[in-house]
Amino acid sequence: MLDEMNEFQTDLAQVIRLALAEQTEDVRLFVARLVRKYRNTDPELAEQMDLYLRAKKMHRTSAPMRKAAQPAMPEQVLPVDDESRLSLLKVFKDAPDREQPLLSVDLEETLSQLIQERRQTERLASMGLSPTRSAIFVGPPGVGKTLTARWLAAQLGVPLYVLDLTAVMSSLLGRSGSNLRTALDFAKRIPCVLLLDEIDAIAKRRSDDTDVGELKRLVTVIMQEVDEWPATGLLLAATNHPELIDPALWRRFDLVIDFKAPEMPAVKAAIKRFLGPDYALFGRWIDILTLAFNGESFSDIERELQRFRRAVALGTASDADLIEEFIKSRALSLDRQARIDLAVLLAKQTRLSQHTISDITGVSRDTIRKYTNEQPSAAKKTRKGNLTHESN
Ligand SMILES: Nc1ncnc2c1ncn2[C@@H]1O[C@H](COP(=O)(O)OP(=O)(O)O)[C@@H](O)[C@H]1O
Ligand SMILES: [Mg+2]
Repeated sequence: MLDEMNEFQTDLAQVIRLALAEQTEDVRLFVARLVRKYRNTDPELAEQMDLYLRAKKMHRTSAPMRKAAQPAMPEQVLPVDDESRLSLLKVFKDAPDREQPLLSVDLEETLSQLIQERRQTERLASMGLSPTRSAIFVGPPGVGKTLTARWLAAQLGVPLYVLDLTAVMSSLLGRSGSNLRTALDFAKRIPCVLLLDEIDAIAKRRSDDTDVGELKRLVTVIMQEVDEWPATGLLLAATNHPELIDPALWRRFDLVIDFKAPEMPAVKAAIKRFLGPDYALFGRWIDILTLAFNGESFSDIERELQRFRRAVALGTASDADLIEEFIKSRALSLDRQARIDLAVLLAKQTRLSQHTISDITGVSRDTIRKYTNEQPSAAKKTRKGNLTHESN
């Protein structure tokens, strides 16, 4: 009995050792041996192991990118900082049918090219080409850089790993270099998308930190990795502060992808999407909301609309109250022409008195009257176009 236990223990230890070393093929061979070994003494265990093996084999025969959607490794094995035990990488495994972020036409084309390259690597290879290995996303906060990385990984059928540079840097400075390497080595070995999010965090620290040498080493590590990143993976970086990125690092990315603040049509689409089923209630304000949200990021729009929806759901405010109060607060940050447009829309589409509208928007009643009564040619036409379009 004791002998048997010992053998179980050594077998278990061996499996763990191989698994942690990520020697998946060896784990497989070893488990196949165990199945034969335990078939007589412990048929139930043998059968269970055999089942796992078969499941594993099935993954192996499917498309190479698919296989990675179920990496052999459990998530606990993600690299962590020794001292703080903070996880260095966050992992996202989304289904490929995940909703596409709202993207400009240009952006959509760039990303679709990226995806096509990955789906047709063999064709590229036959012409001596390899797919884009690295790209840097640039743009203001809240316009979908992180979200798009997630979506892209899901489209490619691989997990997204996000390197939390704050976690890397919060570790004892002397060790952030090795932490970074650990994390990057991990991601390099499996088909995945790795996102170095807010990569300017390193650069920012550079200016107010005394240990400039260490930070320089970090940048050097990243530069080497960008150079050597295998074509089986895709290395992404994102930043709100391109001006802070070391030009030498900047040059190393295969592709620079610009994310811009949304324009009017995108703002409108975002409002529709973020309102979800409550569009039925708020739809009549769509033109007004579009004007008022113009210049805001997607995430700001989403946050505000969530607030609306919660208030309506709990009955703490009516949609009209919410809109009025919101416009009042937004009007302050709009330029004069936008405020006039807004006032005119309010006059036409709501029952608010000119007095109230003037109050909300800060546009004088005279001006409102002037724009709503006389109908000066061009401006009037586009506004009317919008309205007719929306009311169908
Ligand atoms: N292009 C977009 N399409 C749809 N939702 C978006 C978009 N951009 C931002 N959002 C919303 O805002 C949130 C934050 O966006 P995020 O991708 O983190 O922005 P960034 O990384 O550019 O700062 C997202 O989780 C999503 O809910
Ligand atoms: Mg982000």
